[in-house]
Amino acid sequence: MPAKLSAIDTAKFVAAKRACEFVEDGMRVGLGTGSTAAWLVRCLGELVEDGLKITGVPTSIRTAELARDVGISVTTLDEAKWLDLTIDGADEYDPELNLIKGGGGALLQEKIVATASDRMIVIADRTKQVETLGAFPLPVEVIPFGWQTTKALLEETIAALDVMGDKVTLRMDGNAPYITDEGNHILDLHLGRIGNARQMALVLNQIPGVVENGLFIDICDIVVTGNGNGRVQVK
Ligand code: 5RP
Repeated sequence: MPAKLSAIDTAKFVAAKRACEFVEDGMRVGLGTGSTAAWLVRCLGELVEDGLKITGVPTSIRTAELARDVGISVTTLDEAKWLDLTIDGADEYDPELNLIKGGGGALLQEKIVATASDRMIVIADRTKQVETLGAFPLPVEVIPFGWQTTKALLEETIAALDVMGDKVTLRMDGNAPYITDEGNHILDLHLGRIGNARQMALVLNQIPGVVENGLFIDICDIVVTGNGNGRVQVK
């Protein structure tokens, strides 16, 4: 373990390290995005240095850069076509292993890559575990054209669903709207509690202008949760 890690980084690191045990020689592996996924990429890099042969499919420009830096051979999803495994972080996971993702702005590629994988493993620290999804603002990727109209439609739509809050905010990067790797914006839905995440995921994607939402329903197979004391739980 790297020296002098904070409790939260210890939790992320041990989860990433444990998830590496699912990776076998020759696998095509989807590489997630975010601070926990970055630990995974670094851990896999060490294994590659020791002789493990894998091909990584990154879910963002920053993950691609990190993967290359640590010596992982990377390719595109179109080249790989189908993956053995994707390992990624999450903003929240519930008892059914449904997720909110997209806090790091990469939900679109993350969802495409995870869906094109035999298995998805989430690596997380304890703070990501919830009874009901929704305390973390739900990211929705929208195209820039007419985003204010899309925002109004989203507000109208969520008001009719089983949620606690109804505020929608445009994600910013300093003084400008945040731009995803696909050139889109992100609207964050402050819902507090999502009563029916499955219904919400379907309904949001019907709105013109919405590209994808951050609810991952029936996609994740295993969650590896790390603790600040170095212990790990696999569910
Ligand atoms: C990026 C994501 C991340 O996996 C999620 O935000 C968790 O990030 P972190 O590991 O930094 O807490 O969905 O789009």
